[in-house]
Amino acid sequence: MLLDPQGRSFSYLRLSITDLCNYRCNYCLPDGFKCDHKAHYLSLDEIAALVQSFARHGITKVRITGGEPALRRDVSEIIKLIKNTPGIEKVAMTTNGYQLSRNIKNWHAAGLDAINISCDSLDPRMMQAIIGRNNLDAILQGIDDAISIGIKQVKVNTVLLKQFNYQQLNQLIDWAKSKPLTLRFIELMQTGDNKDYFNANHVSADEVGKSLILEGWVESLRAKNAGPAREFAHPSALGKIGFIAPYSKDFCNTCNRLRVSSQGKLHLCLFGDTGYELRPFMNSDDPAILDNAISQFLTHKADSHFLHQGYSGATSDLAMLGG
Ligand code: GTP
Ligand code: 5AD
Ligand code: SF4
Repeated sequence: MLLDPQGRSFSYLRLSITDLCNYRCNYCLPDGFKCDHKAHYLSLDEIAALVQSFARHGITKVRITGGEPALRRDVSEIIKLIKNTPGIEKVAMTTNGYQLSRNIKNWHAAGLDAINISCDSLDPRMMQAIIGRNNLDAILQGIDDAISIGIKQVKVNTVLLKQFNYQQLNQLIDWAKSKPLTLRFIELMQTGDNKDYFNANHVSADEVGKSLILEGWVESLRAKNAGPAREFAHPSALGKIGFIAPYSKDFCNTCNRLRVSSQGKLHLCLFGDTGYELRPFMNSDDPAILDNAISQFLTHKADSHFLHQGYSGATSDLAMLGG
């Protein structure tokens, strides 16, 4: 079991498999996409070694992220490999919805248990303004297909943006009432290069949470290791509403996840953490070398990212947000 100095235990690994992305969401890439041609992404063998090591340490859930993971041709193989790793109970993936309808059947067959899909508006013009293209119909179709094919958990991520989709909140909430999914409002996070955009668009998710309670939504009790998202249910709604509010003060208390970047760095926190190289420990014949390196690095995990105290040095590396 992986325990940090604060006694938090880690059962959840977020594994990025590429930094490449084919969308240009304005909150993610305000200055345009910078493609790193020299990037050397984790191979299938490296992914296998990593996941086996984390599973020996008690990790039971792996979320595949990017960039956009669907851009890797071997994504179904990656899902299968992770799902077949002894100790791993749940394989999830976060996607921008790219070719979701076309891929979901293969991913489900490979063992995908849960999927988080980005969708920032139900209005095609607003989608165009936020993500730089209008493929709303394809994303909505993909969401419906994921539900009907039997993926157990379907979540939709919506980044709250004051100057964009914030006026459409009620439309989104009504939509979530009619679908068996969880719609999560994500507070805009500050990345290294989006300071002005952040100041103009950040909306406190806690405020939205308060107004939901007034409308009869009830917050679910969270297990200690359930992760930082809050969740609300409503007696007349099929779906749930969630919040990811990293600027609220107790966000980090329930942190249950570690991250590995697409090039094999261990990140202990999404914010203010430059990462620890795991590649030098991956290719040994002795698996204990990688296991020990991971345990050692975890002793450096900080209490909190201190964003709620106005710690502006803690901007996130955008690749770690994991599109
Ligand atoms: P679940 O497994 O469904 O709990 O997923 P998740 O919310 O961790 O994953 P997803 O990839 O859908 O991420 C949604 C948003 O939450 C993204 O903006 C992530 O970068 C952000 N996020 C995920 N984990 C953390 C975290 O520990 N801290 C912070 N600040 N943000 C996080
Ligand atoms: N702030 C908040 N969420 C972000 N995402 C990407 N960049 C940011 C940001 N700056 C979200 C995407 C996706 C999720 C994995 O991360 O919308 O749904
Ligand atoms: Fe791509 Fe995700 Fe960033 Fe949008 S948020 S540009 S989908 S990585």
